Amino acid sequence: MKLIGTGSALPKRQVTNDEISQFLDTGDAWIRPRTGIRSRHVISDERIEDLAADAARRALDMAGLSPQDIDFFICSNVVNEYMTPGLSCIVAHKMGMACPMIDINCACPGFIYAMDIAETYFQAGKVNHVLILCAEEPTRMTSWEDRGTCVLFGDGAGAAVFTRGDKLKAVRLNAEPDPDKICEIRTLMPTPFITKEETGTPLLMKGREVFKFAVSTSIRDIRTVMAQSGLTPDRVDWFMIHQANLRIIDAIREGLGIDPARFPANIGDHGNSSSASCPILLDECNRQGMFKRGDILVFSAFGAGLLSAAAVLEW
Ligand code: UT7
Repeated sequence: MKLIGTGSALPKRQVTNDEISQFLDTGDAWIRPRTGIRSRHVISDERIEDLAADAARRALDMAGLSPQDIDFFICSNVVNEYMTPGLSCIVAHKMGMACPMIDINCACPGFIYAMDIAETYFQAGKVNHVLILCAEEPTRMTSWEDRGTCVLFGDGAGAAVFTRGDKLKAVRLNAEPDPDKICEIRTLMPTPFITKEETGTPLLMKGREVFKFAVSTSIRDIRTVMAQSGLTPDRVDWFMIHQANLRIIDAIREGLGIDPARFPANIGDHGNSSSASCPILLDECNRQGMFKRGDILVFSAFGAGLLSAAAVLEW
């Protein structure tokens, strides 16, 4: 497949570290050196499906397509206000799109998992145009009393449109199932057969363990996809790493021994927006004119599951 359009949309409310320190025992002096985050976009009076539709429309506009031209829609989302139907149906209804659609919950590597699914549909000859949309509101999952998680996240949506082509050069999907490392548990109502109420939790995360997983798996995933596509690190133009923590990105870069200029980052003003992070970064870099035809982009993302993935895409 081949990328022909990108789009993104962010909540208008940008919350600085200093603002968080007004209601929580934390502050810029802790957050910035440990994460690289100065501020994050946080949903206030918007709805995630509106941001998602805006991101999708922008990607379609760039591709010169209408919603009716899409024949498969993959939506990556961890939570929104509906348990069912999936966010894909809610967004499609807003946009007047009625092709087959699926939702995936692969957390942070969702964009790369979605690219792999899309490529499989293209290879099967089933589709001409695929829309991938990653829309996340992790700030509604975390407890805003838990300084260990809420300071890390931001909301937003990123989208990409693909057509037939041969620009996706390699993908590696990886799973090391260990649900307790990052999870949110929902509250379950009693039924006639279960009398005890099961109380849920907000997002729980074992930060240090996730940090180690992220660095080691990303270095391995990136080396694997580069080897699969016969690339040496100097041939890669851009490393598009999931924006979870600037220290994680730096550790990956140091592990690979690559110069920082090839690792674009927007985490400073965005925080971690889960699966939306890679396509938002992609769209921002694209609209800044950073990519030229033939550039090699390597994506890598990691998160809840634990899942990780990497991919090589030629521009
Ligand atoms: O998309 C993937 C999802 N998640 C991630 O990628 C997260 C990966 N992990 C990380 O990024 C880092 O582990 C964190 C940023 C979450 C934490 O950094 P750390 O250097 O591993 O700190 P820590 O969790 O070991 O905490 C160190 C101290 C603790 O105090 P004590 O126990 O040493 O007294 C924490 O209570 O820092 C304290 N702390 C804070 N202090 C002020 C934790 N969060 C905060 C905070 N403000 N926001």
